[in-house]
Amino acid sequence: MLKVYESFWEKLKILNFDENHLQQFIVKTKAKLLKPIQGDYPNWLQAYKNLPTVENAEYIEDDAITCRAKNVEKEIIRESYQSLIPWRKGPFDIFSSYIDSEWQSFMKWNRIEKHLPDLSYKTILDVGCGNGYYMFRMLKQQPSLVMGIDPGLLQLMQFWSIEKYVQSGMAVLPLSIQDVPENLNCFDVVFSMGVLYHRKSPIHHLKELANCIKNNGHLVLETLVVKGGKDKCLIPIDRYAQMRNVWFLPSVDMLKTMLQRSGFGDIECIDVTYTTVEEQRTTDWMKFHSLKEFLNDNLSKTIEGYDLPLRATLVARKK
Ligand SMILES: C[S@@+](CC[C@H](N)C(=O)[O-])C[C@H]1O[C@@H](n2cnc3c(N)ncnc32)[C@H](O)[C@@H]1O
Repeated sequence: MLKVYESFWEKLKILNFDENHLQQFIVKTKAKLLKPIQGDYPNWLQAYKNLPTVENAEYIEDDAITCRAKNVEKEIIRESYQSLIPWRKGPFDIFSSYIDSEWQSFMKWNRIEKHLPDLSYKTILDVGCGNGYYMFRMLKQQPSLVMGIDPGLLQLMQFWSIEKYVQSGMAVLPLSIQDVPENLNCFDVVFSMGVLYHRKSPIHHLKELANCIKNNGHLVLETLVVKGGKDKCLIPIDRYAQMRNVWFLPSVDMLKTMLQRSGFGDIECIDVTYTTVEEQRTTDWMKFHSLKEFLNDNLSKTIEGYDLPLRATLVARKK
């Protein structure tokens, strides 16, 4: 698996990435992949290895990440992708295998895309990138480099199984934000979407993100929020919409203060939207319960009685 990273490390060298930071990324990536203790990793790896080579695959920018080619062994590819179920983020349409993921991720992208900082010729880090769906969406703007980090090895293998055909030159490293070297300070734009509420110390997470961004670079932050003024937040007593690992849901105004205290300025909220059962639902590619089962009967509250999931996206500049 380490072979897939070789050209990416070269690209970082060409872009004058700090040598010490690069070595830390290489060593940590190796360590995670040589000692993978997560889930069904050997089977996920085998599914990836089973994917046949396809000559002249054409990548098409669309709501579904799409590849087309002639004379493709479609059945083998479909079976490999099925071995990587559950697919949470997507959709993907690879040689007519349509991966209908739990999330219609394009709905979020289409809401925020026009408000994002310019990504052309920029270096981008996507923290908690999952299977890289949004990284593929960024390609349209021709960034100079896109790197994702995510500790989930299933998402990692989903990314590489799509990238095998898209051939974008991007990479996802199997790392957490905590693995990022201190004083990285090098990316033009850092995305953190759907991660902050999973972190026990949200201000610490914002500082970790600031550590990745160069001065005057931008953060795109998306997280669960609650309605209310700058003094309002929710710390769920136990689960929130059945999720165990939700710690801190601020109001948008409180989030702005948190960003300000973490070294950001020019803070702008670009989207606030309730998640619907159209956007997040059970499919053939994610057969477990989804949002509908995590809400009450008339879909007016979470099953625990909290306000419905509301997500905000903010853009801020590192001072
Ligand atoms: C809710 S998903 C969001 C995925 C994607 N960013 C999106 O917006 O659809 C959260 C992701 O963050 C990852 N994650 C959780 N803790 C993390 C951490 N400490 N550092 C980096 N990623 C993390 C998870 O593995 C998961 O893929």
